[in-house]
Amino acid sequence: MDARLVNTVVSTLPSDDTHPYRTGPWHPQTEEWDATPRVVAGAIPSDLDGMYLRNTENPVHPAITNYHPFDGDAMLHMIEFGDGRAAYKNRFVRTAGLAAEAEAGMALWAGFIELPDTAHRTDGWTARGRMKDASSTDVVVHRGEALTSFYWCGDLYRIDLSTGATLGTETWHGAIPPWGVSAHQKVDPATGELLFFTFSKEAPYLRYGAVGADGVVHTLRDVPTPGPRLPHDMAFTEHYVILNDFPLFWRPDLLEAGIHLPKYQRDLPSRFAIVPRHGDGEVRWFEADPTYVLHFVNAFEDGDTVVMDGFFQRNPAPSTRGAADLEEAAFRSLALDQLETVLHRWRFDLRTGTTTEEDLSERYTEFGMMNPTVATRPHRYVYAATGEPGRFLFDGLVKHDVVTGAEEAIRFGDGVFGSETVMAPRAGTTAEDDGYLVTFTTDMNRDRSYCVIYDAAAPSAGPVCELELPARISSGTHSTWATRTELANATML
Ligand SMILES: [Fe+2]
Repeated sequence: MDARLVNTVVSTLPSDDTHPYRTGPWHPQTEEWDATPRVVAGAIPSDLDGMYLRNTENPVHPAITNYHPFDGDAMLHMIEFGDGRAAYKNRFVRTAGLAAEAEAGMALWAGFIELPDTAHRTDGWTARGRMKDASSTDVVVHRGEALTSFYWCGDLYRIDLSTGATLGTETWHGAIPPWGVSAHQKVDPATGELLFFTFSKEAPYLRYGAVGADGVVHTLRDVPTPGPRLPHDMAFTEHYVILNDFPLFWRPDLLEAGIHLPKYQRDLPSRFAIVPRHGDGEVRWFEADPTYVLHFVNAFEDGDTVVMDGFFQRNPAPSTRGAADLEEAAFRSLALDQLETVLHRWRFDLRTGTTTEEDLSERYTEFGMMNPTVATRPHRYVYAATGEPGRFLFDGLVKHDVVTGAEEAIRFGDGVFGSETVMAPRAGTTAEDDGYLVTFTTDMNRDRSYCVIYDAAAPSAGPVCELELPARISSGTHSTWATRTELANATML
């Protein structure tokens, strides 16, 4: 393999670390590489054309008291394909928090399961406050750049798609909201718009916005909720966005004392706001069965009905009984089998204001992707991750056929963990599953990582190509696929 070590970032993590989300498949990297990955099985499809990007929580300092994997610094893994060739880079996202902690040689802000008062700094980012904007949750490609983001709101970091360099933060001509932006913005491939939401402890608590392909914020409106909420994702159709108010939020009585303890209020319904994408038309709220949803797959309009698929948690608050400590208790909420996440469909009737809903599967899956060209239209296939029991690790994937209910499942193999797996459609095709599934694996048996490519029409036939990366990468979080068009003129090849 042609690989070049570009840089090594100083880590202060202990060499004898035992933290379950900083060791094994979650062992963070300190090295940044440029590589032409070696093909170790099959061949790179000549009609795979674009870039797979995956964000990673990759910490370089011990937490002040308790580390949670959502706190880790962002590392972006990028692999580009074209003309049967591939190029790979991994880079830290140079956030302001990463720079300040590098200078201090230690963690300065309080993480997800730490009390804000433990932070060494009084400033910070996110809806909670005194927290680092690690930018390690999500990544999208918009206007020829990658944008990384953080789940409790923060800046959007702009990444050069040719070099992996951090270019600074996106401001949208100075119009980015003061609360920042949540992870899980949506880029509509049909219009080039970026749709986003943002939330805060300040009224009105929730806002929706849209940015054109020209980078101009043309819509920003309040979508008030009864108090501070913790939305994680949104969905969109041709004419609407769907925001949410789930009954899992910081306990209001403790919030006044500065304690941010999420509690599931099982006696409250879930609420969904259907908001016109443009203009100031009426926001309509729909009630549904109580749950919490981390991720939606797609939404579309069917006459006067808005249809939305996502992952319903049957158990949004796993029992912490018997947990040895705070971390073990908190980490139960990372496991798909504990949360009991199932693919689910909501139908919102705009004439009657009623919701109907049903499970589409009995299998615990999450992190669902689909052919991105089908966004806002009825989809048939969802490619979703399965979880290692009790852990935040993906041990395989399932191709759900939501029309027939058929499921095609594959496992990566014992000790092998995958990523949020994208579906990359073949250029010029019309069949929804005519394309490739692309993922990164962390293989503990071979102490290596690979980029693995499957035929989306027949994933259980096995990989069509495996490429070796220069180093074993940590397990990570969200990913995206950028087509050649979306890359604009950027290339690593
Ligand atoms: Fe997410």
